[in-house]
Amino acid sequence: MTHKPDYGIDAPAVMRNLFLIGTVSLLFAIFAPKIIHLGPVLLSKTTFYWTAGFLLGEGCLFLLYVKVGKFRHRDFMLAMHPWCGDEQVLDVGCGRGLLLAGAAKRLAALNGTGHATGIDIWSNVDMGGNAEAATLHNLTLEGVQDRCTLISQSAAEMPFPDASFDVIVSNLCIHNMYDRPTRLAALHQIVRVLKPGGIALISDYKRTAEYAAEFQQAGLQVEKKRGSLITTFPPLTVVIARKPA
Ligand SMILES: C[S@@+](CC[C@H](N)C(=O)[O-])C[C@H]1O[C@@H](n2cnc3c(N)ncnc32)[C@H](O)[C@@H]1O
Repeated sequence: MTHKPDYGIDAPAVMRNLFLIGTVSLLFAIFAPKIIHLGPVLLSKTTFYWTAGFLLGEGCLFLLYVKVGKFRHRDFMLAMHPWCGDEQVLDVGCGRGLLLAGAAKRLAALNGTGHATGIDIWSNVDMGGNAEAATLHNLTLEGVQDRCTLISQSAAEMPFPDASFDVIVSNLCIHNMYDRPTRLAALHQIVRVLKPGGIALISDYKRTAEYAAEFQQAGLQVEKKRGSLITTFPPLTVVIARKPA
C-alpha cells in the first residue's frame, strides 16, 4: 500500500500492448532489410516505422491521461455541478475512487452533510490493482473515508431505493458492459436512483450516443460536452442528463 493516493492504470493490458507491439515494430523497422518478404507480400520497412510511431504515440497519450489527464477530466466533470455540500452522490464504476474522492472532498470543503457512494465489481481487466481495499486506502489517504460508502455490486443491479441521489457520476465504466441489455439495465438504474431535479454526468469514450438516447427516452434533459482532445485518451465525452424536478 502506498503513502500517496494511487488511482491506477485504466485497461492495463491495452497500455502494455501499445508499448510492447510499438517497440517490437520499431526494432523491426531499425534492423530489418529495406524490403521484407512475407510470403507473396512485400513490405517496406517504412511500414514498420509508421506502425511503431502510431502505437508508441497512442501509448504516450494513454500514459498522459493516466498521470495527468484523468485528474483534469475529474475536475472538468465535477465543475459541471454547483455544489452545496448536502448532496447524495453516486459514482458508478468508481474503480479506485478517482471521482468518488473528488466529490467527497467537495462535500467536505463545504462542511455539508452530503455523502458519496461508490459501486463497482472491482475488475482488474478494466483497472490495474482494482480492489475494494485499494479504494478504501485511497479514501483514507484523501481524508474522506467517513463520507464514503463502497458497494460491491454490478451497476446493472443497484441495491438503492428509487430517487436516492442528487448527483450521479461515472467515468469509463459503462462501455465495459459488453452486451446491450446489461448496459441498458445500468442506464435505467441510473435514471431510477436519480432524484427529480438531480444530475447525471456520464463520461465515456464510446457509446455516448446510446446513453444520451436512453436518457432522453426516459424523459431526462440531455446535453453532451467533449473532454480535452489532448489529455483524455481515448478522447472522452460527458453526457449530462438532468431529471426534471
Ligand atoms: C476504466 S475503470 C474506471 C474507474 C474510475 N471510474 C476512474 O475513472 O478511475 C472502469 C471501472 O468500471 C468497473 N465496472 C465494470 N463493469 C462494471 C459493472 N457492471 N458494474 C460496476 N462497475 C463496473 C470496473 O471494475 C472498473 O473499476
